[in-house]
Amino acid sequence: MKLTEKILQLKKQKNAVLLAHYYVDGQLQDIADFVGDSLQLSQEASKTNAEIIVFIGVYFMAETAKIISPSKKVLIPDVEAKCSLADSCNAQEFAEFLKQYPNHTVISYVNTSAEVKALSHYICTSSNAVKLVESLPQNEKIVFAPDKNLGNYINSQTNREMILWDGACHVHQEFSLEKILQIKRENPEALLLSHPECKKPILLISDFIGSTTALLNFSQKSKATKFIVATESGILHQMKKSCPEKTFIPAPPEGECACNECNFMKINTLEKVYRCLETEKPEINLSTEIIEKAILPIRRMLNF
Ligand code: 13P
Ligand code: SF4
Repeated sequence: MKLTEKILQLKKQKNAVLLAHYYVDGQLQDIADFVGDSLQLSQEASKTNAEIIVFIGVYFMAETAKIISPSKKVLIPDVEAKCSLADSCNAQEFAEFLKQYPNHTVISYVNTSAEVKALSHYICTSSNAVKLVESLPQNEKIVFAPDKNLGNYINSQTNREMILWDGACHVHQEFSLEKILQIKRENPEALLLSHPECKKPILLISDFIGSTTALLNFSQKSKATKFIVATESGILHQMKKSCPEKTFIPAPPEGECACNECNFMKINTLEKVYRCLETEKPEINLSTEIIEKAILPIRRMLNF
């Protein structure tokens, strides 16, 4: 039997659900029950009836699923699937940082550890960050962590001056403005679609900015037929699948590589998914104390 068939059989036997992020390999997206962006995946984790959730993405996403559904067994194919952005915000250092800003509302991006979430009032994702900040009074004092690019973008869209933690993602930070401008010159009809974790100069020349799902939806609805995509190249799998007649060019980073991949997302393989379903390991375990604290800002986001 092929590995994919074995996975699907085991999944059925164990009443498990496979949730995958758009950035993992296409063959993993194709076996998943649900593929989505961070917000959709946490919403899916909150409503699934499955006993086991296999999170094919990165650690903070699986951890968020566990916080949302503590009675379920949450598995991750490889615990080394971390996130450079989440890792750029250490909880102890963040707690120290927050001491400088009493009376501030703390909004953390979902790309954070459970401990950082536990220090926050709200969690947001790239698809609801601007709306969430807009819903707060204009004069509310806000600390935003950990992505400074997303934070700057929200500030520009909402006319705020949120205090920003100095973190970034190793993928989105690296896109080359010069190379993108060159591609635009060679393909003047192409639209530039960017994730808000990209640096400001990239966002300034973008035709559309949004979460991975928003970029995908835009590419489907747009009359344009060519797109330069400034986010992790895994999203191109769904873009090409839903619009095979359109052309998608991955935005290049600085350096030699022609595309841009998240080495943490790409650590997931079919083999690891199979092994994790079979052995029911590695499992995400969190203390009740952390779950009780971290669920509050997540619930505020899900209710919002
Ligand atoms: P989304 O919120 O678009 O899923 O992005 C998650 C992420 O990790 C971006 O790098
Ligand atoms: Fe984290 Fe960046 Fe990978 Fe997204 S692409 S999971 S922010 S390291």
